[in-house]
Amino acid sequence: MDMPNLNTTHQFDVIIVGSGGAGLSLALSLPEHLNIAVLAKSTLTDASTYYAQGGVAAVLDETDSIQQHIDDTMIAGAHLCELDAVKHTVEGGRPSVDFLLNHGVQFTLDEDEQLHLTREGGHSQRRIIHSADATGKAISTTLVERAREKKNIVIFENYIAIDLITTHKLGHKQQPNRAVGLYALDESNEKVHTFLAPFTALACGGAMKAYLYTSNPDIATGDGIAMAYRAGCRVANMEFNQFHPTCLYHPQARSFLITEAMRGEGAYLRLPDGERFMLRFDERAELAPRDIVARAIDYEIKRLGIRHVWLDITHKPKHFVKEHFPTLYARLLELGIDITQDMIPVVPAAHYTCGGVVVNENSQTDIAGLYAIGETSYTGLHGANRMASNSLLECFVYGMSAAKDIEAKLDQPFESPDVPEWDASQSTNPDEDVVILQNWDELRQTMWNYVGIVRTTKRLQRALHRIEMLKKEITEYYQDYHVSKNLIELRNLVMVSEMIVRCAMQRKESRGLHYTLDYPELSEELRKTVLTPPNFTVETPLVNAEV
Ligand code: FAD
Ligand code: SIN
Repeated sequence: MDMPNLNTTHQFDVIIVGSGGAGLSLALSLPEHLNIAVLAKSTLTDASTYYAQGGVAAVLDETDSIQQHIDDTMIAGAHLCELDAVKHTVEGGRPSVDFLLNHGVQFTLDEDEQLHLTREGGHSQRRIIHSADATGKAISTTLVERAREKKNIVIFENYIAIDLITTHKLGHKQQPNRAVGLYALDESNEKVHTFLAPFTALACGGAMKAYLYTSNPDIATGDGIAMAYRAGCRVANMEFNQFHPTCLYHPQARSFLITEAMRGEGAYLRLPDGERFMLRFDERAELAPRDIVARAIDYEIKRLGIRHVWLDITHKPKHFVKEHFPTLYARLLELGIDITQDMIPVVPAAHYTCGGVVVNENSQTDIAGLYAIGETSYTGLHGANRMASNSLLECFVYGMSAAKDIEAKLDQPFESPDVPEWDASQSTNPDEDVVILQNWDELRQTMWNYVGIVRTTKRLQRALHRIEMLKKEITEYYQDYHVSKNLIELRNLVMVSEMIVRCAMQRKESRGLHYTLDYPELSEELRKTVLTPPNFTVETPLVNAEV
């Protein structure tokens, strides 16, 4: 249901920030008698979910097994994954697929009318269901359609959540901290609204807009992670940022991914002289986990002083390529690249935030009434490196788990406290928006150059120094001027960038996606990197996510 004309204070049963796979799977799994608000800071489909190409990993074939999917995930995650979370997610594969099919998502079928399974890096089996090479579009448009049909779901597009409201922030410190809602900016008229509910879920996606080159849409500015941390939630493993090995290198194409399924279906990576160089780096060659492939490409680009490497699927029959990759074929043809006969220029780009807000199996954070789902969360599934197509699966499994948990807690008493309206009295209109632009560019450039695929302690120190200066400037700006979308995002992005650097500095080893020349070896100790905010309260009763 689209938003009617409303006051600036809204009362709901559940507030969900985010309309990607995570947010909508929660919204559609909750009982229909609940009033649910879904906020999105852009249109509903403008989310990473919509852009997913490869698919959703799930154990469906009889030659596959839950144990093999668990083992593959643990190996790809460099053994830093938490086994309970891996088990919970992998076992949720079949129910997640059923959820999607029941809502009408159309997946590609094989000749026997069974779900066609493709393959991606790190998977020892074919286990990825997909809708040709535009899986996210099929999932996103279908779930958005279902959500719009529901009378109990009220949709707020172009509303940007600014900050959570908690009982501790309201001064009620004698009780454990509890989320009671949030403030959000209506971009159409720049008014700040108050949303109140006993349950709030952050499904805001990742933070890879922190990097200059990324496969992510513009919404991926780490808002959920920053809001949760400011409210008092722990955040973990932020050093593990995944760089997708194959993004298109082309002056006219921004953020365009070339799916790993192309390598899964036999594409080779080549150097300008034609060499299939991955064979020198790993026996799994092009199908090694992403961290290994991205690092190998980065190494070759730097060694040879080239701008990109080549992805080559020209040895496969034309009809096979067109049938498996219709979207990529059409899009690249527009750019003058016929993938049935031309190689594709590719480079790695920031793709996925493996760390996030610490949650338990029910998606519950450190704060009562507050959930985090999908790329915003840290469930323990991905460890030091996410395996391809495990993230959409995680969105659905944890979206459904959160719904169950909320349902089980519906009869707990909740009295909405008095909440003041957003105070804009101190702020004036900004006279120099160029400050935001300048800081935005500087931050993303710094992260790309100093906190990228290969790190050193010195580079991290340089990055931290600059980030601290930017943070000071942005904080002052935030206090003095009216909030705007750009300012909210920049404030969050600088905070999350600092988290990435601080976590990276704490890790004195190279593991998975964190590779540093100063500590090139694996440490024997397996530990996650946890950032605890100053306002974290240990007596929080509802969380059993151990750290
Ligand atoms: P998103 O889908 O990113 O949704 C975030 C939502 O939060 C949006 O609606 C946004 O508007 C909203 N939001 C954010 N901040 C605010 C705020 N402050 N206020 C209001 N709303 C806010 N994973 C796979 O498993 N398989 C794949 O094939 C695959 N391919 C990918 C291809 C690309 C190009 C990309 C970028 C990612 C891919 N991934 C894939 C990763 C996967 O798509 C994401 O991890 C997943 O979709 C994240 O879903 P989400 O619901 O957590 O976040
Ligand atoms: C891809 O299609 O290569 C992306 C898959 C993923 O990120 O899981």
